[in-house]
Amino acid sequence: MPAPDQGQTVPEALTTAADAAQSSCRPVSMFGGISGKLLWLTVVCIMLAEVLIFFPSVASMRLRWLDERLNAAAAAAIAIDGLQPVELPRDLQRQTLEATGTKAIVLRKDGTSRLLATWDMPASVDAQYDLTSVPAVTAMRDALDTLVFGGDRMIRVYGPVQDTNIGVEVLMKDKHLRNAMLIYSRNVFLLSILISLFTATLVFFAINRILIRPIRRLTGSMQQFSADPENPQHVFVGDGGRDELAIAGRHLTAMQLQLQKTLKQQSNLAALGLAVSKINHDMRNILASAQLMSDRLVDVDDPMVKRFAPKLLRTIDRAVGYTTEVLSYGQASESAPRRRLVPVTTLVEDVRDMLAIDPQSDVEFVEQIGADLEVDADNEQLFRVIHNLCRNALQALTSGNAGASPRRITVSAHRIGSVVSITVDDTGPGMPQKARQNLFAAFRGSARSGGTGLGLAIARELVLAHGGTIALVEKPSIGTQFRIEIPDRPVSLDDYRGRSLLEK
Ligand SMILES: Nc1ncnc2c1ncn2[C@@H]1O[C@H](COP(=O)(O)OP(=O)(O)O)[C@@H](O)[C@H]1O
Ligand SMILES: [Mg+2]
Repeated sequence: MPAPDQGQTVPEALTTAADAAQSSCRPVSMFGGISGKLLWLTVVCIMLAEVLIFFPSVASMRLRWLDERLNAAAAAAIAIDGLQPVELPRDLQRQTLEATGTKAIVLRKDGTSRLLATWDMPASVDAQYDLTSVPAVTAMRDALDTLVFGGDRMIRVYGPVQDTNIGVEVLMKDKHLRNAMLIYSRNVFLLSILISLFTATLVFFAINRILIRPIRRLTGSMQQFSADPENPQHVFVGDGGRDELAIAGRHLTAMQLQLQKTLKQQSNLAALGLAVSKINHDMRNILASAQLMSDRLVDVDDPMVKRFAPKLLRTIDRAVGYTTEVLSYGQASESAPRRRLVPVTTLVEDVRDMLAIDPQSDVEFVEQIGADLEVDADNEQLFRVIHNLCRNALQALTSGNAGASPRRITVSAHRIGSVVSITVDDTGPGMPQKARQNLFAAFRGSARSGGTGLGLAIARELVLAHGGTIALVEKPSIGTQFRIEIPDRPVSLDDYRGRSLLEK
């Protein structure tokens, strides 16, 4: 597996983010936005609620309808019953039945039943219902049953006549009942649609007013601001409300103001940095010529010149070093590390050679590194990190306020699992307070004359680019200790297997 691509160019990433922001700010269609979604949601919710209400209401409508029929039949029945013992003429019976919409009327009184009128008596009955007391569930089940299967069935309905001990029973077709129920259902359905559309429209406009407009204002301001962040007119102005959106608006205003301030500072700093690097660049050239000329002073025989020439040379060297270091820091960011397996011993020996510790001084350079220890890192960059730390240690050991001997720099390294830990330790005076407070901060961490305060900052930048860590280790004894930890790159299992196969 290739190493994760850390080198994605920033402008590219920025463009994509900006594009995404732009496209997400495009106004959505009226019905695709939040208010549109809420509109549909309201319609669906109300229709659902209507369905739930529909079953009980159609059931009670059916009971009412049947009750009415029974009452009409009861009125006729009581009148006919009064004619006892004469039987109603056939013709009159037919008319009564037609008027009450029934096929037969039976009166139940004092424990006896009397068939009062009948015409075209049906041979069998498909269903019978007792309306004395109907539980809600039964009523709904019967209603559904009528709606689905009814229409051509013969039913028998029995019910008591109000406040009497008389009961009436009728036989009838359920066709009219079902028709009435269907009309009722259709009306309920149409009414539901009307109600839900009306409510949804209200919700739509309310949401638009309360939510969408303020949100559009917020996004609009963000869009304008990101297009031209320096324009003070693009800072969001809230309406002083107290709801969540108003709070969001106030936060946006604060953020935009803060951002404008930072941008202003940034551009000032950038201009300043440019000026400094220009001055620095010219200064380095001037110093380089001074260096060339003063090199020749060494050849002059004058004892006075002989005494001061080395000092002058050292000072100019330092000045050149200073300008070079600042310039290299100013030259944007470091390139991404090109990692490979580097033998740590060789690396540290190179550092030691580069340090060129004066054999006259009693500074000791100790290496405690396993002979075959390798670190997965960029050779050049890791060299600079260790060199910076060792040079600091050497400077501390040879500075005026270095303590009594022994003076020793110890570089040790070992591997713990997939991490290589490197420690640079010295027996110097320890980190001064000022340097501690601005540890790893560029230009601010220096506590020695002629220092730039860039060494540790650069070291940290390089270690972070390796995904590692660098830290000042608190130690009880005298001196300073820095620990670097460099993790290996993650390796895919397939690569690892391939490699171990090759090794076999
Ligand atoms: N090993 C050390 N012992 C004592 N002081 C140190 C040591 N390493 C760094 N420092 C302090 O930290 C400061 C910052 O170091 P650095 O970032 O390399 O900047 P510079 O060396 O240019 O001053 C130094 O000025 C020094 O005072
Ligand atoms: Mg330094």
